[in-house]
Amino acid sequence: MKSHIIAGLDLGNSKITCMIAKISSAEPIPEIIGAGTSEPNGFSNGMVVNLQLAAQSIESAVSTAESQAGVKLTELYTAITGAHISGESSKASFAISRPDKEISSEDVSQLIQQATAIDIPSGRTIIHFVPQEFVLDGLSGIHDPIGMNADHIEANVYVVTATSTAIQNIQKAVYQAGFNVRKFLPQPVVASFSVLERSDQELGCMLIDIGAGTTDIVVFYNGGIYDTLSLNLGGNDITNDIAIGFSIPRPRAEELKVKHGVARSDFAFTKKTVKSRSSEKPTLIKVHSLGKNTDRIIDQESLVSIIAPRVEEIFALLYRKLKFPVDLELLPAGIILTGGGAKMPGIKGLAERVFGIPTKIGIPNTVQSLNQYKDSSFSTSVGLILYASLNNDKCNIKKMGKVPKKPVFVSVSNRVKKWLLE
Ligand SMILES: Nc1ncnc2c1ncn2[C@@H]1O[C@H](COP(=O)(O)OP(=O)(O)OP(=O)(O)O)[C@@H](O)[C@H]1O
Ligand SMILES: [Mg+2]
Repeated sequence: MKSHIIAGLDLGNSKITCMIAKISSAEPIPEIIGAGTSEPNGFSNGMVVNLQLAAQSIESAVSTAESQAGVKLTELYTAITGAHISGESSKASFAISRPDKEISSEDVSQLIQQATAIDIPSGRTIIHFVPQEFVLDGLSGIHDPIGMNADHIEANVYVVTATSTAIQNIQKAVYQAGFNVRKFLPQPVVASFSVLERSDQELGCMLIDIGAGTTDIVVFYNGGIYDTLSLNLGGNDITNDIAIGFSIPRPRAEELKVKHGVARSDFAFTKKTVKSRSSEKPTLIKVHSLGKNTDRIIDQESLVSIIAPRVEEIFALLYRKLKFPVDLELLPAGIILTGGGAKMPGIKGLAERVFGIPTKIGIPNTVQSLNQYKDSSFSTSVGLILYASLNNDKCNIKKMGKVPKKPVFVSVSNRVKKWLLE
């Protein structure tokens, strides 16, 4: 029985995650056999700021995953984020001159190649592209034209570019850690593989990944990617606001946010008394402000009055920056929130109020895993594995040791199983 390995590296602003999966010929479903996380020292806003530290952070996450999985890796699918990443649509077309007019896979490859051979500004590199739709003799919305007939074919391809310097330095850090980048992928596109249903993409939806340093969006419309956007604002900014607002150290502010934070959608407007998450009594929290000798008591309402406007501001900024000028009601599958920031109670309601469309939380429960990984902050790392397996790709490895008999995560859920086997 043949098997191969896929390894993903998510360079997040709050943590670096490496996940390793095994795919065997008998079971085409990825089986996650190792995972490791580390502090993203040496990175800032998704970019390398200290090469040596960045390499050490990568090495630390990967070696934990390697020893759990019993493999030695040489290549990693790598998910990146940051406002330096942007995307745009590109078109290419030609006439089918052959008498049978039947579109071949070579025609499609040639068309995609033409569409991606665009003039990109100097200092930028194409990291990813994905066909949005094909247009056959004016008939749009076609996703798989191979075997169909037409006189003229056009392809709209979504091309994602990033700053070349940022890419080169990440590549260098990964290399110094002892690995090669198999492929760079933008974080939100990757997360879509683990948290979106196929129908979400087909109907049209907007995935919002609220991370620590960035909030990333990918819009699916007409069955393909329509727009992506990355904003250098995220959970860290909420934590900073809390730290400044109460004059407390950042780690305490982070703790308060995660334990008591609520993004009440109605709070900013009605100033209703905010109740505790678990009881009807308002929660009182003891904090020790910097430079003060005594503790003071704050109520959860004051905490929410800091959090809710910031989350609302992030959503409003995204809304304004979207290239998607049409009514968001044209996205019937609504909004899917993921990333660690999506764990904030009340955030779903706030998104519904700002964007005006139904919202749900996207959790990567598409793999059977330890509960700690069935968490919206792991949607990108799980997504890397699913992306590679759907593309029938593999990562080269140095050697495979004794893989644990009982893998860390066993198999993919029925939903994805069905989808992968379709
Ligand atoms: N229960 C919670 N309530 C509110 N925020 C939370 C909660 N749990 C985690 N977070 C926040 O989620 C963020 C981390 O999310 P995630 O792990 O998706 O980030 P990342 O992928 O490392 O960062 P980025 O996507 O910016 O590169 C942190 O800001 C953290 O404070
Ligand atoms: Mg992230």
